[in-house]
Amino acid sequence: MKKPFIVGNWKMNLTLKQGVEFAGLLKNSLYGKREIICGICPPFVFLKEICKILEDCNVCVAAQNIHSERNGAYTGEISALMVKEVGCTHVLIGHSERRHIFHETDSFINAKIKMALSVTLKPIFCIGETLEERESGRTKEVIQNQLKGGLHDIRADRLKELVIAYEPVWAIGTGKTALPGQANEVHAFIRNTVADAYGKDFATSLYIQYGGSVKPENAKELMAQPEIDGLLVGGASITFESFLKIIEAVSKD
Ligand code: 13P
Repeated sequence: MKKPFIVGNWKMNLTLKQGVEFAGLLKNSLYGKREIICGICPPFVFLKEICKILEDCNVCVAAQNIHSERNGAYTGEISALMVKEVGCTHVLIGHSERRHIFHETDSFINAKIKMALSVTLKPIFCIGETLEERESGRTKEVIQNQLKGGLHDIRADRLKELVIAYEPVWAIGTGKTALPGQANEVHAFIRNTVADAYGKDFATSLYIQYGGSVKPENAKELMAQPEIDGLLVGGASITFESFLKIIEAVSKD
Protein backbone atom coordinates (compact mmCIF):
# COMPACT_ATOMS: atom_id res chain seq x y z
CA MET A 1 0.00 0.00 0.00
CA LYS A 2 1.32 3.45 -0.93
CA LYS A 3 1.08 6.30 1.55
CA PRO A 4 -1.24 9.05 0.23
CA PHE A 5 0.79 11.92 -1.28
CA ILE A 6 -1.10 15.18 -0.70
CA VAL A 7 0.29 18.37 -2.25
CA GLY A 8 -1.04 21.91 -1.96
CA ASN A 9 -0.43 24.23 -4.92
CA TRP A 10 -0.73 27.78 -3.66
CA LYS A 11 -0.45 29.22 -7.18
CA MET A 12 -0.08 33.05 -7.04
CA ASN A 13 -1.60 33.48 -3.58
CA LEU A 14 -0.69 34.40 0.02
CA THR A 15 1.83 36.83 1.42
CA LEU A 16 5.25 35.74 2.65
CA LYS A 17 4.06 36.23 6.24
CA GLN A 18 1.02 34.03 5.65
CA GLY A 19 3.11 31.40 3.88
CA VAL A 20 5.64 31.25 6.68
CA GLU A 21 2.89 30.92 9.27
CA PHE A 22 1.23 28.17 7.22
CA ALA A 23 4.51 26.24 6.93
CA GLY A 24 5.08 26.41 10.68
CA LEU A 25 1.58 25.17 11.45
CA LEU A 26 1.90 22.37 8.91
CA LYS A 27 5.21 21.25 10.35
CA ASN A 28 3.74 21.01 13.84
CA SER A 29 0.57 19.26 12.71
CA LEU A 30 2.44 16.63 10.74
CA TYR A 31 5.07 15.95 13.36
CA GLY A 32 5.30 12.18 13.78
CA LYS A 33 2.58 11.49 11.20
CA ARG A 34 4.06 8.70 9.18
CA GLU A 35 1.03 7.43 7.28
CA ILE A 36 0.99 10.28 4.77
CA ILE A 37 3.38 12.22 2.53
CA CYS A 38 2.64 15.89 2.23
CA GLY A 39 3.96 18.79 0.18
CA ILE A 40 3.36 22.43 -0.67
CA CYS A 41 4.13 24.53 -3.76
CA PRO A 42 4.73 28.14 -2.67
CA PRO A 43 5.50 30.99 -5.08
CA PHE A 44 9.22 31.25 -6.01
CA VAL A 45 10.06 34.15 -3.73
CA PHE A 46 8.83 32.29 -0.64
CA LEU A 47 10.76 29.09 -1.36
CA LYS A 48 14.00 29.77 0.49
CA GLU A 49 12.33 30.78 3.71
CA ILE A 50 9.74 28.01 3.60
CA CYS A 51 12.30 25.32 2.75
CA LYS A 52 14.26 26.40 5.83
CA ILE A 53 11.21 26.01 8.07
CA LEU A 54 10.42 22.60 6.62
CA GLU A 55 13.92 21.12 6.41
CA ASP A 56 14.33 17.89 8.35
CA CYS A 57 10.61 17.32 8.47
CA ASN A 58 8.29 15.16 6.45
CA VAL A 59 6.82 17.93 4.27
CA CYS A 60 8.28 18.33 0.78
CA VAL A 61 8.51 21.67 -0.96
CA ALA A 62 7.90 21.94 -4.71
CA ALA A 63 8.46 24.86 -7.05
CA GLN A 64 5.50 25.69 -9.28
CA ASN A 65 7.62 25.85 -12.44
CA ILE A 66 11.17 25.92 -13.83
CA HIS A 67 12.73 26.82 -17.17
CA SER A 68 14.02 24.13 -19.47
CA GLU A 69 17.51 25.64 -19.77
CA ARG A 70 20.19 25.30 -17.11
CA ASN A 71 21.10 29.02 -17.11
CA GLY A 72 21.52 31.93 -19.48
CA ALA A 73 19.80 34.98 -20.92
CA TYR A 74 16.20 34.19 -19.98
CA THR A 75 15.09 37.32 -18.16
CA GLY A 76 12.42 36.64 -15.57
CA GLU A 77 12.89 32.87 -15.56
CA ILE A 78 14.01 30.54 -12.75
CA SER A 79 16.21 27.47 -13.27
CA ALA A 80 15.96 23.97 -11.85
CA LEU A 81 19.30 24.43 -10.10
CA MET A 82 18.09 27.61 -8.40
CA VAL A 83 15.06 25.98 -6.82
CA LYS A 84 17.11 22.91 -5.93
CA GLU A 85 19.72 25.13 -4.26
CA VAL A 86 17.18 26.72 -1.93
CA GLY A 87 15.90 23.31 -0.85
CA CYS A 88 13.06 22.19 -3.14
CA THR A 89 12.76 18.45 -3.73
CA HIS A 90 9.94 18.57 -6.28
CA VAL A 91 8.68 20.75 -9.12
CA LEU A 92 5.32 21.03 -10.88
CA ILE A 93 5.73 20.69 -14.62
CA GLY A 94 3.07 21.15 -17.28
CA HIS A 95 0.35 22.52 -15.02
CA SER A 96 -2.74 23.31 -17.06
CA GLU A 97 -2.42 27.02 -16.27
CA ARG A 98 1.10 26.94 -17.73
CA ARG A 99 -0.18 25.06 -20.79
CA HIS A 100 -3.22 27.24 -21.40
CA ILE A 101 -2.33 30.73 -20.15
CA PHE A 102 1.38 30.61 -21.02
CA HIS A 103 1.08 28.33 -24.08
CA GLU A 104 3.56 25.70 -22.93
CA THR A 105 3.87 22.86 -25.41
CA ASP A 106 4.50 19.16 -24.84
CA SER A 107 8.04 19.50 -26.16
CA PHE A 108 8.85 22.41 -23.81
CA ILE A 109 7.38 20.38 -20.95
CA ASN A 110 9.50 17.40 -22.02
CA ALA A 111 12.64 19.58 -21.92
CA LYS A 112 11.70 20.81 -18.44
CA ILE A 113 11.19 17.27 -17.15
CA LYS A 114 14.62 16.32 -18.50
CA MET A 115 16.16 19.39 -16.85
CA ALA A 116 14.49 18.61 -13.50
CA LEU A 117 15.74 15.02 -13.62
CA SER A 118 19.26 16.16 -14.48
CA VAL A 119 19.48 18.01 -11.13
CA THR A 120 17.51 15.33 -9.21
CA LEU A 121 14.42 17.46 -8.75
CA LYS A 122 11.36 15.21 -8.75
CA PRO A 123 8.83 16.23 -11.40
CA ILE A 124 5.11 16.31 -10.65
CA PHE A 125 4.02 16.08 -14.26
CA CYS A 126 0.50 17.46 -14.79
CA ILE A 127 -1.81 16.31 -17.56
CA GLY A 128 -5.51 16.62 -18.27
CA GLU A 129 -8.14 17.26 -20.91
CA THR A 130 -10.33 20.32 -21.48
CA LEU A 131 -14.13 20.16 -21.34
CA GLU A 132 -14.37 20.34 -25.10
CA GLU A 133 -11.91 17.46 -25.48
CA ARG A 134 -13.87 15.36 -22.97
CA GLU A 135 -17.22 16.12 -24.57
CA SER A 136 -15.92 15.18 -27.99
CA GLY A 137 -14.76 11.81 -26.64
CA ARG A 138 -11.05 12.59 -26.93
CA THR A 139 -9.97 12.33 -23.27
CA LYS A 140 -7.83 9.22 -23.75
CA GLU A 141 -6.24 10.48 -26.95
CA VAL A 142 -5.30 13.78 -25.27
CA ILE A 143 -3.91 12.05 -22.19
CA GLN A 144 -1.92 9.63 -24.32
CA ASN A 145 -0.44 12.45 -26.39
CA GLN A 146 0.48 14.48 -23.30
CA LEU A 147 2.18 11.44 -21.77
CA LYS A 148 4.00 10.60 -24.97
CA GLY A 149 5.09 14.20 -25.56
CA GLY A 150 6.08 14.96 -21.98
CA LEU A 151 8.04 11.75 -21.44
CA HIS A 152 9.56 11.52 -24.90
CA ASP A 153 13.04 10.05 -24.98
CA ILE A 154 13.36 9.51 -21.21
CA ARG A 155 14.35 6.04 -20.04
CA ALA A 156 12.45 4.30 -17.22
CA ASP A 157 15.50 4.21 -14.93
CA ARG A 158 15.57 8.04 -14.94
CA LEU A 159 11.89 8.29 -14.06
CA LYS A 160 11.84 6.47 -10.72
CA GLU A 161 10.88 9.64 -8.85
CA LEU A 162 8.27 10.80 -11.34
CA VAL A 163 4.80 11.69 -10.05
CA ILE A 164 1.92 12.20 -12.48
CA ALA A 165 -0.97 14.49 -11.58
CA TYR A 166 -4.21 14.04 -13.52
CA GLU A 167 -5.97 17.40 -13.47
CA PRO A 168 -8.94 17.64 -15.82
CA VAL A 169 -8.93 21.28 -16.94
CA TRP A 170 -12.72 21.54 -16.54
CA ALA A 171 -12.41 20.65 -12.86
CA ILE A 172 -9.69 23.17 -11.95
CA GLY A 173 -10.99 26.08 -9.92
CA THR A 174 -14.54 25.45 -11.13
CA GLY A 175 -15.99 23.60 -8.15
CA LYS A 176 -16.78 20.72 -10.56
CA THR A 177 -14.81 17.75 -9.26
CA ALA A 178 -14.50 14.71 -11.49
CA LEU A 179 -16.67 11.96 -10.06
CA PRO A 180 -14.41 9.57 -8.18
CA GLY A 181 -15.20 6.81 -10.69
CA GLN A 182 -14.50 9.13 -13.64
CA ALA A 183 -11.12 10.10 -12.19
CA ASN A 184 -10.31 6.47 -11.39
CA GLU A 185 -11.01 5.46 -14.98
CA VAL A 186 -8.55 8.01 -16.37
CA HIS A 187 -5.97 7.09 -13.72
CA ALA A 188 -6.25 3.43 -14.78
CA PHE A 189 -5.76 4.51 -18.39
CA ILE A 190 -2.67 6.54 -17.43
CA ARG A 191 -1.24 3.58 -15.54
CA ASN A 192 -1.85 1.21 -18.45
CA THR A 193 -0.30 3.64 -20.92
CA VAL A 194 2.74 4.01 -18.69
CA ALA A 195 2.90 0.21 -18.28
CA ASP A 196 2.99 -0.21 -22.06
CA ALA A 197 5.93 2.17 -22.31
CA TYR A 198 7.88 1.37 -19.15
CA GLY A 199 6.66 -1.99 -17.87
CA LYS A 200 4.12 -3.14 -15.33
CA ASP A 201 6.32 -2.88 -12.20
CA PHE A 202 7.17 0.71 -12.99
CA ALA A 203 3.50 1.58 -13.56
CA THR A 204 2.38 -0.13 -10.36
CA SER A 205 4.78 1.83 -8.20
CA LEU A 206 4.08 5.15 -10.01
CA TYR A 207 2.26 7.77 -7.96
CA ILE A 208 -0.74 9.27 -9.78
CA GLN A 209 -2.40 12.21 -8.04
CA TYR A 210 -5.82 13.66 -8.81
CA GLY A 211 -6.33 17.43 -8.89
CA GLY A 212 -9.35 19.63 -9.64
CA SER A 213 -11.68 21.11 -7.01
CA VAL A 214 -10.47 18.80 -4.25
CA LYS A 215 -12.05 19.85 -0.93
CA PRO A 216 -12.23 18.45 2.60
CA GLU A 217 -15.68 17.06 1.68
CA ASN A 218 -14.58 14.99 -1.33
CA ALA A 219 -10.96 14.11 -0.50
CA LYS A 220 -11.69 10.85 1.27
CA GLU A 221 -13.94 9.47 -1.45
CA LEU A 222 -11.41 10.36 -4.15
CA MET A 223 -8.58 8.74 -2.22
CA ALA A 224 -10.68 5.60 -1.74
CA GLN A 225 -10.39 4.91 -5.48
CA PRO A 226 -7.87 2.16 -6.15
CA GLU A 227 -5.96 4.08 -8.84
CA ILE A 228 -5.72 7.41 -6.95
CA ASP A 229 -2.49 7.63 -4.94
CA GLY A 230 -2.61 11.26 -3.91
CA LEU A 231 -4.19 14.67 -4.40
CA LEU A 232 -2.98 17.96 -5.87
CA VAL A 233 -5.03 20.64 -4.19
CA GLY A 234 -5.37 24.25 -5.38
CA GLY A 235 -7.93 26.57 -3.80
CA ALA A 236 -8.49 24.42 -0.71
CA SER A 237 -4.75 24.42 0.07
CA ILE A 238 -4.55 28.17 0.52
CA THR A 239 -5.94 28.21 4.01
CA PHE A 240 -4.19 26.03 6.51
CA GLU A 241 -7.48 24.93 8.09
CA SER A 242 -8.95 23.46 4.91
CA PHE A 243 -5.65 21.87 3.85
CA LEU A 244 -5.36 20.23 7.26
CA LYS A 245 -8.93 18.97 6.99
CA ILE A 246 -8.01 17.29 3.69
CA ILE A 247 -4.94 15.71 5.26
CA GLU A 248 -7.01 14.49 8.19
CA ALA A 249 -9.77 13.18 5.94
CA VAL A 250 -7.36 10.99 4.00
CA SER A 251 -5.20 9.85 6.90
CA LYS A 252 -8.12 8.46 8.92
CA ASP A 253 -9.75 5.14 8.13
P1 13P B 1 -8.33 23.73 -7.59
O1 13P B 1 -8.19 22.72 -6.44
O2 13P B 1 -8.49 25.12 -7.13
O3 13P B 1 -9.39 23.27 -8.54
O4 13P B 1 -6.95 23.68 -8.41
C1 13P B 1 -6.40 22.46 -8.75
C2 13P B 1 -5.03 22.67 -9.25
O5 13P B 1 -4.82 23.29 -10.28
C3 13P B 1 -3.90 22.16 -8.45
O6 13P B 1 -2.71 22.23 -9.13
